[in-house]
Amino acid sequence: MTTTQTPQKMLPPINVLQWVQEHREELKPPVSNKYLYDGKDFFVMVIAGPNARNDFHLTDSEEYFFQLKGDIIVRIIEDGRIKDVPVREGGTVFIPGGVPHSPTRPPDTIGIVVERVRPAGESEHLQFYCDNCCELVHDVEFDCKDIVEHFAQAMKDFWADENLSTCKNCGTRVPVGTPIKKIIYEPEVQIIRE
Ligand SMILES: [Fe+2]
Repeated sequence: MTTTQTPQKMLPPINVLQWVQEHREELKPPVSNKYLYDGKDFFVMVIAGPNARNDFHLTDSEEYFFQLKGDIIVRIIEDGRIKDVPVREGGTVFIPGGVPHSPTRPPDTIGIVVERVRPAGESEHLQFYCDNCCELVHDVEFDCKDIVEHFAQAMKDFWADENLSTCKNCGTRVPVGTPIKKIIYEPEVQIIRE
């Protein structure tokens, strides 16, 4: 057998539900996530609800979502409109590269997200869209070294700036992303925030 890598010891199996209990206090808004695994080729995050974000994430890399506990909505931009995609407990969804997406997680939910380590030079976008007219309101582009820290700060900076956060098309302001209180699924999706 030949390999170009120095063999490493495999980590022991992790009981995810137990891991979540042990790290519950660290899973805090606005993004409410923590690395379960931060590897060479990909990383795995555990993301609890409620989150408190209303940004959309855009990258060229694919993402994999598995909803371990409770139901969430993944908002995506499709054909220039905001589309709400329910992902129920036990459900899984694959986000292609180039699709702006905004996971919207109510309380007492736990999801797992797998993303690849970005190739050198790939940029990350944090975007905000107008809830009223779906216009792109603001786009922050950066090299993502640490998704947890950089995203949280970029969101706070945006929400605090009235000019940046006001839609140039219709004048509606993108509000501060407050924690999700609950989601109503029928007859149409309604996202209730605190
Ligand atoms: Fe607008």
